[in-house]
Amino acid sequence: MAAANPRKIIGVTDAAALAQAAADRILARIDANGGQVAICLTGGSSPKRLYELLATPGYRARIPWDRVHWFIGDDRFVPSSDPLSNIGMAKRAFLDECAPRDCVHPMPTDAPTPDAAARLYEAMLKTFHDISMADPSPLFDLVLMGIGPDGHTASLFPGYPAIDVTDHWVVGVPQAHVEPFVPRVTLTLPALASSREMLFLVSGKDKRAIAIRVLADDTLPAARAHSNGETVWLIDSAARPETLDAS
Ligand code: 6PG
Repeated sequence: MAAANPRKIIGVTDAAALAQAAADRILARIDANGGQVAICLTGGSSPKRLYELLATPGYRARIPWDRVHWFIGDDRFVPSSDPLSNIGMAKRAFLDECAPRDCVHPMPTDAPTPDAAARLYEAMLKTFHDISMADPSPLFDLVLMGIGPDGHTASLFPGYPAIDVTDHWVVGVPQAHVEPFVPRVTLTLPALASSREMLFLVSGKDKRAIAIRVLADDTLPAARAHSNGETVWLIDSAARPETLDAS
C-alpha cells in the first residue's frame, strides 16, 4: 500500500475559529468540484458548532445545496430521533433546515442488526457512486473526523476487529467500550481513506492528552486513519500540545 501523505496540522485560536476554518475547507472542496459533491460528516460534540455555522446566512448562501450530498462516517445504532444519533444531531443543527432530503444519506439504523445496516449502507455507497471497492475514484470530497478519549475515530475502536477490515466499506460494531455504550455502524479505514481530504476537528483542553498520544502512537485508530488525498488536523490552542509544530 502506498505510504500515506503526511498529515498537515493547522493551529487555530479557539473553537469558533476552528468551526470557521472547517467550514471554509468544506466550501473550498465544494467549489473545487463542479459536479455532485459528497461530504462525510462525523458525530460526537466537536462538529456541532461547525454544523450550526453552515446554517447561518453567510455560509448557507454559498453552498449549492442541490448538488451536495451528506453522508455520516459512523452512527450509534439508535433511531435518528434519539439524542445519541450522530445524523440526528447534524439534521437538527443544519441538514433539516438547509439540505434537500434526497441529499442526506443516514445510516439505516432501523435495520435488524448493525451488520445489516452496514451492508445496506455499503450497497447505497456503491450505487450512489456507481463504483466498486476496486475503483480508485474517491467516495468523498471531504471526510470529517473526531478523536475519542481512547484514540478511536469514527467507531473504529482500539483493539476491535473493525479497525483491520479492508474488504468492506462499512461494518457493524456490536458494542462500544466508551460512552455511549450502544452498538454502532462505521465506515472502515479504506472507505474513509477514499477521499480528497480527511479533516480532523481537535478542540478543547480535554483533547490535549489524547492528541499527544495519537501523535506518538501510530497504532491508534485516529493515527491510522488517513486520506488518499490530504489529511489535515485543525487543532485549537486549548487542545494543542506545547511541543506540536503547527502552521
Ligand atoms: C462518535 C463519533 C466519534 C467522535 C469522537 C470525538 O460516534 O462518537 O463519530 O468518533 O468523533 O468520539 O467525539 P467528541 O467530538 O464528542 O469529543
